[in-house]
Amino acid sequence: MRKKLAAGNWKMNGLKASLTEIAALAKACPAPNCDILICPPATLLAGMADACSGTPIKVGGQDCHAAASGAHTGDISASMLADAGASAVILGHSERRADHGETSADVAVKVVSVWDAGLTAIICIGETLEDRDAGRTLDVVGEQLSSSVPEGVTAENTVIAYEPVWAIGTGRTATTAQIAEVHDFIRGKLETRFGKVTGNGIRILYGGSVNPKNAVEIFSTSNVDGGLVGGASLRAADFAMIVNAAD
Ligand code: PGA
Repeated sequence: MRKKLAAGNWKMNGLKASLTEIAALAKACPAPNCDILICPPATLLAGMADACSGTPIKVGGQDCHAAASGAHTGDISASMLADAGASAVILGHSERRADHGETSADVAVKVVSVWDAGLTAIICIGETLEDRDAGRTLDVVGEQLSSSVPEGVTAENTVIAYEPVWAIGTGRTATTAQIAEVHDFIRGKLETRFGKVTGNGIRILYGGSVNPKNAVEIFSTSNVDGGLVGGASLRAADFAMIVNAAD
């Protein structure tokens, strides 16, 4: 059985004062049956890791450079994120793909650097509204999946996040039928490529306007192993309800 994962992506939000949300979240979810991860901006990572110690909450990065160190002004490596207390890194988020022109090939190289640092890669894929309207959803998702995920995957070192771009930050969630169709498709692709055991063990998260009201329904959808949550992860009161929905 795959353990569910409730992952929060704070994006470019949060100052030191926001770290108080961690104690509130830990209090609201004292003995969760799911894994909990918060990915704050890099400036808060070490402080958040401290705040999470003694709680079931883990912290992660939102991106990293593919190299372990070197002359790359402004960038952060996976080993630096690990050193600051991260256990996972989000890679290939649609905002990285759109804002920074990241390709699936770029993402695949970063995934290896995340594994080399001993961390879990959370690899994001998802179609645009234009893709969906043109009936290309499964083609696009399948292509991103095969080219963003390198060889070497295990059920522990990799999580896939399906995030339809049109559902991110829009308040417009995919229907459970749409989610099930894509998650079942991703599961099939993972099993075909990596074998039944590994392919069946990799967690597939849904992301895109998950909130306390829709989380239970989404998390009980076929092949949904939790959520990658943006806006609703910023406040402990909201995220705790989402964590409890994954429990
Ligand atoms: P959202 O973001 O929950 O605010 O839609 C999800 C994400 O981008 O991971």
